Amino acid sequence: MKPVASLIGLAGLLLLAPLGAGAAGKVSFTKDIVPVLRANCATCHLTGQEAGNLKLHPGAAYASLVKVASVESPLKRIEPGAPERSYLMHKLDGTHLDAGGMGDQMPFGADPLDEGTRNLIRRWISAGAPNN
Ligand code: HEC
Repeated sequence: MKPVASLIGLAGLLLLAPLGAGAAGKVSFTKDIVPVLRANCATCHLTGQEAGNLKLHPGAAYASLVKVASVESPLKRIEPGAPERSYLMHKLDGTHLDAGGMGDQMPFGADPLDEGTRNLIRRWISAGAPNN
C-alpha cells in the first residue's frame, strides 16, 4: 500500500510541477506589461501633467511606477515583491479606497482590465517588479 501511495504522490508532483512552472513563469515588463499600459493607460497618462501625475508610455512607465510614491495614497505605486502594498494594483482591482486612496478604478471610464491581465501584473510585482 505504501509504495503505491508514494507512487501516486510522485505522479501528482510530476503532473503539478510543469503546471506550477507555467503559472509562475517569468513575466517580462517589456513584453507583457508595457503593451497593456500602452493600450489602456498611456492615452491619459502621457506627459505626467495630467491628473494622477504619472507617465505610462513605454519609455517612462518603469521610472514612473516602481518605488515611486503615489499622489493619492500613502502607498508606493509599485512596491517590488508586494502587490498588496502597490497602489497601482489597488487602482486596477478597485480596492484603492480601502487602501487609503481616492478617485476611480483604472482604467478611468472604461471596463476594468480582465482578471488574467491583472494577475499577470500582480505576478510581475510579486517577482520583484524587475525591469526585464
Ligand atoms: C481616461 C483617462 C485615464 C485612463 C485611460 C487611465 N487613467 Fe489612471 N488616472 C486618470 C485620472 C483622471 C486619475 C486621477 C483621478 C482618479 O484617481 O480617479 C488617474 C489616477 C491614476 C493613478 C493614481 C496615481 C497616484 O500616484 O496615486 C494610477 C496608479 C493610475 N491612474 C493608473 C492607471 C493605469 C495603470 C491605467 C491603465 C490600466 C490608467 N490609469 C488609465 C485617468 C486615466
